[in-house]
Amino acid sequence: MDFNKVVVIGGGVLGVQIGLLSAYTGHDTTFLLRSEGSIGRTTPKIERYSGLILSALEQTKGLIGNPMGTYTYPKGLIRDWNSATLEEIDRLVGEAKRNFAEKVHIELDNAKALAGADIVIESMSEDPEAKIGIYRSIRDLMEEKTILCTNSSTMLPSRFAEYTGRPDRYLALHFANTIWKNNTAEIMGHAGTDPAVYERVVAFAQEINMIPLQLHKEQPGYILNSMLVPFLSAAQGLWANEVADPETIDLTWRLGTGAAAGPFQILDIVGLETAYNINQMKPDAKEEGSTINRIGKLLKEKIDRGETGVNAGKGFYDYGKK
Ligand SMILES: NC(=O)c1ccc[n+]([C@@H]2O[C@H](COP(=O)([O-])OP(=O)(O)OC[C@H]3O[C@@H](n4cnc5c(N)ncnc54)[C@H](O)[C@@H]3O)[C@@H](O)[C@H]2O)c1
Repeated sequence: MDFNKVVVIGGGVLGVQIGLLSAYTGHDTTFLLRSEGSIGRTTPKIERYSGLILSALEQTKGLIGNPMGTYTYPKGLIRDWNSATLEEIDRLVGEAKRNFAEKVHIELDNAKALAGADIVIESMSEDPEAKIGIYRSIRDLMEEKTILCTNSSTMLPSRFAEYTGRPDRYLALHFANTIWKNNTAEIMGHAGTDPAVYERVVAFAQEINMIPLQLHKEQPGYILNSMLVPFLSAAQGLWANEVADPETIDLTWRLGTGAAAGPFQILDIVGLETAYNINQMKPDAKEEGSTINRIGKLLKEKIDRGETGVNAGKGFYDYGKK
């Protein structure tokens, strides 16, 4: 392993998942949090997500010998599905329990957390001022060798590079939710990122069982959301303009492309609040009569009825009571 000490700033949904995958793959991992209150909020999340990771491993035993296993096994947890056996999974469970117990640390002191760090992954709230604030407070505490990454979903690294004190060693390393299953890592530098550092981050992503997806330049939304957002928006337009109903639109997409899920099934997974927030950011969201405005109103009606997607038990589809 090339990276020994990993620091994750922020103990939210994604920060915890990133830190646990780092520890799962044997890296000494420190969560840098800001207060005792944050420790109180992050500790149960660490317990919850480590439990989910361990049960995902246990469930994988049922997939051995099943031809579907190759598509559905948790790719962030098992490197080589072809050589997976019951014994190997038991070994991984034991190793994961040991790593979660021994390699996960929580620290409130910036200097102590950052000493000796090979890589720091900032996964704090999507708030530019908060990100700038933390970069300013850690810039002089990181060692020469430390690489600083951001997991920001919507903001470009060039916006922050000047505050980091190490623009050449700063770039985006963007994960997806439930990273033990959806093990993508979109890697995006800004114009000043050192290509050698970029390559090191590609190697780090591989070390923690992610599939590195390399961007050659900055792009808002990275690769996935640059395709997904317009696709979902087009589907919602067909629905809002009463061209077809969500079931038919989904069926068309599945039959026409062989995809496993249609846009409204995906929207139910993403959550309608997120779709609504994206809709409201569009320039014509308030323009009465526009398609975007109609989509916003329809989404809002569903949200007000509590139909926000899979997590709520109902969205465009009914998933049974939660
Ligand atoms: N949720 C997702 O699906 C997802 C996916 C990919 C990337 N991201 C990105 O990951 C980052 C975090 O998202 P999240 O969903 O985990 O958010 P979250 O709200 O669950 O967690 C944010 C964390 O940041 C902490 N924080 C805020 N200000 C801080 C400060 N000054 N110092 C230290 N910690 C501070 C909060 O206490 C909280 O624990 C965001 O940049 C987001 O764009 C999120």
